Formats: sequence, C-alpha cells, structure tokens
Amino acid sequence: MCEKHINTKVVNYPDKEGMAEAAKLIREGKLVAFPTETVYGLGANALMANAAEKVYAAKGRPSDNPLIIHLANAEDAKKYCEVTGEFERLAKAFTPGPLTVVMKKKDIIPSTVTGGLDTVAVRIPSHAAARELITLAGVPIAAPSANLSGRPSTTSADHVISDMLGRIDMIIDGGGCDIGLESTIVAIVGENKLKMLRPGAVTLEMLRNEGFEVTLDKAVTEKLSEGEKPAAPGMKYRHYAPVSPVTLIDACDEKRVEFMAKFIGDSSVALVCFEEDVTIKNAKNAVVLGRKDDLAAQAHKLFALLRAFDEKSEIKQIYAPLPDKSGIGLAIFNRMLKASGYSVIRP
Ligand code: TXA
Ligand code: MG
Repeated sequence: MCEKHINTKVVNYPDKEGMAEAAKLIREGKLVAFPTETVYGLGANALMANAAEKVYAAKGRPSDNPLIIHLANAEDAKKYCEVTGEFERLAKAFTPGPLTVVMKKKDIIPSTVTGGLDTVAVRIPSHAAARELITLAGVPIAAPSANLSGRPSTTSADHVISDMLGRIDMIIDGGGCDIGLESTIVAIVGENKLKMLRPGAVTLEMLRNEGFEVTLDKAVTEKLSEGEKPAAPGMKYRHYAPVSPVTLIDACDEKRVEFMAKFIGDSSVALVCFEEDVTIKNAKNAVVLGRKDDLAAQAHKLFALLRAFDEKSEIKQIYAPLPDKSGIGLAIFNRMLKASGYSVIRP
C-alpha cells in the first residue's frame, strides 16, 4: 500500500476553478475522487497505464481486479470497445445512470486498466459533477469506488477523506450519493442475453422488462467454492465488512424480533433493524436501516451504517435481517451477504 504522503486538495462542486484543476490533474495522470449517483469514484486517466497503477496502489487493491471506465456519452463507447446492438439498447434505456456494461476492449485501453482481461467495463454516470469532470478532462476516466480495498464503498466526501486523504491528489465534494450502492454490472453474453455480475439500482426486473434474457452470476447470491471464479473478479474479494462480525438472521419478522430482543440490554451487540421494529428500534444498540418497504432508503444508508460500526469499539457482534431479494433488494442482499462473510443463522 502506498504511503500517505500526497497533499490532497478538497474542492466543492460546482467550483469552476476547482473542476478545471481536477480535469487537468486527470489528464496528467494524477488521482481525483469525484461523486457519482452510486458511490464516490477514485478517478484516473483511463488511457494511461501508470495512472491505473497509482489507483491500485492508493486503494491497496490487487491489480487483477479491473477498473470501470466512465464516459460522458454512450456514443463514445465505440472508441474503446466493440459495441453491439445490445449495448445500444441498454444505453438508450438506462444511461446515463447506474449501469455498467462489460464488452470486448479495443487496444487503446491499457491492459493494466482491465486487470489483464480482454474486456472492459463501461459506465456512463448521470451525476453532473462526474459528467463535467469527464467532459473537461477529455479522456475516459477509470474509477473504482473511492474506498480502501475491503472497506465499504464511500457515499460521502467525509468517507473519502477518511480513506484517501494523503493518498490521492484531489477530492471533489459533491455531497451525498443518491443511490448509495455501486452500479449494476452486466456482461453481454449472446444475442439478447445478459449475465448480471453485480446487482444495483438497475434491477433484474428492469432489464427483463426491456426484453433481455438475464441470468445471474452465481457469485451474486452464493459463496463460491475453492477454485471457482466469479465473472467479475472483484466479487471474489472480502468486501464491505466491518471489523466486528456481521450475522444475518433468516427468519420471519416475528422470530427475528424475538431473537434480537434478547440483546437489547447488551451494549456489545448492535442490532440492525427496521423502522417498524418498535420493540427493538429505541434500544441504545439498535441502528435503523429504514422502513421495511423502502428499499431505496435502505440502499442509500447501508454503507454509512456499516462504516459507523468501526467507530464504536464496544461493538463485538452485529445482527441484521437477511434482506428481501426483489428489486434493488437483491443489491442490498448481495452487499450484506458479503459484509457477513456468508454468515446466516435461522433462529
Ligand atoms: O457504481 C460504480 O460502479 C462505482 C462508481 C465509482 O462508478 N464503481 C465501482 O468500481 O464500483 P469498483 O472498481 O469498486 O467495482 C468494479 C467491479 C469489480 O468487481 C470488478 O471486478 C468488475 O467491476 N469489473 C471491472 N471490469 C470488469 C471486466 N472487464 N469484466 C468483469 N468484471 C469487471
Ligand atoms: Mg469497489
């Protein structure tokens, strides 16, 4: 991991001079964190191999875990990869927005950016700051989530400051991220056929409603056995986990609340619950994720909540409900399952 020796400048979006300076830094191969509608990204010039190397070093990320390239317009994708009709349909329906599409890469994208793969992941973000930065820089921006490897992604500039100060050249503070979970990733695997590699705010249901046949990579919902490889290399790494163990409770609300109630007086146990869990939510060690049916609010809050646990050293165990898998719930389920290291109990 690189030393923390860089003087990191923090600018507020939309500071005109700050944005121009950020774009210049990107062009020169420096690192700039910026807000997107999903999570903050750690941006670098996607056409420079050594800028990508700096990204891996700043995050402490294994260099076989490829980066997503961010473009201002879907039409630009053909400069960097082999575009198909499926991509054009996806772009029309869902971009700019929280969708990433994996396609065969062209030589202009260095293999350092793609972790040695012959494919590249492309995303067209909708956040105004991200779009402005890409346009001003005039180059595609390679950007993983702006967190230290293994930690939850960053959904506010404060999170980025806490992980990246001293490791990167600039942070653009654009406030909190709307969605709060990373983009949906799909690979185009055949005519009209997609494979979802990571769930996000563009849901399985939404993709199927557009007429696509969509399968789910096994790594989204299950622990892979030794030697099995996920289609998105990043899905194999331990991720999102707070220092204290997280255990998910697979039970109906009544049974789950009954189980959690046993720990109300125990300050070493944190209880993640819903607004509706009246007997649990006012306990000192309870953390409310949101209303049970408000999956967007839960997604928005999840990473901040997971990060906050690491600031409370008295917490030795975290219990949380096993999320519902419909809509964006599948993305919440996937991140929580990883945060728990696949630890699920049925009381
Ligand atoms: O919302 C997002 O996608 C955010 C913002 C900043 O855009 N970015 C993000 O990047 O989440 P990152 O690097 O944290 O996650 C990218 C994931 C990793 O799991 C990686 O393995 C996968 O995308 N990926 C990247 N390129 C790929 C490729 N060519 N084939 C398969 N998976 C790929
Ligand atoms: Mg990430």
